[in-house]
Amino acid sequence: MQVGVLASGTGSILRAMLERRIPVAVVIADRPCGALDIARDAGIPDELVERTDFSKNFDRVAYTDRVVAALRAHDVDLVTIAGFGTILSPPFVEAFGGRALNTHPALLPAFKGWHAVRDALEAGVDETGCTVHLVTEDVDAGPILAQEAVPVLEDDTEETLHERIKEVERRLYPDVIEKMVREGVRQ
Ligand code: GRF
Repeated sequence: MQVGVLASGTGSILRAMLERRIPVAVVIADRPCGALDIARDAGIPDELVERTDFSKNFDRVAYTDRVVAALRAHDVDLVTIAGFGTILSPPFVEAFGGRALNTHPALLPAFKGWHAVRDALEAGVDETGCTVHLVTEDVDAGPILAQEAVPVLEDDTEETLHERIKEVERRLYPDVIEKMVREGVRQ
């Protein structure tokens, strides 16, 4: 079983996956980022499929095709999204539906989207958390595989709360991935 990781950030979740010996075949990023450095340091193939257009004319389908081609080139069976900053188009789900996972820093269906931690703080909830789910065409709406709550503390900032959520993600996400790798995913 070959796992592909899509990331855009510091890569702390990727690092946790590697510490758990998840068989990562390639790390793909949409911008230069810490996750690519972690892959290089670990001797894992990395690919920068750079997104240069952040305008409304961005050709999302063409970009998605490049990501799918890179995943296929590395014979990826299971895609794990770990903080990837570009929403992919339907051709991604057509290629990897049922074999693509995402971790989201909120208790879905609450606080979908890129600012989930900030939105939870602004809503004044006393707990939020993280969710591991299958990727479907609707963003942050696929079947939920695991969830864990994290309390919001009085003096939390977006950074402190996100870091506590990520501590949980670094355990929960590898747990789910490990299970899928062990049991196999339906092709
Ligand atoms: C995680 O909270 C993930 O859920 C979110 O981006 C963060 C990635 O963190 N969408 P890192 O780059 O692995 O540290």
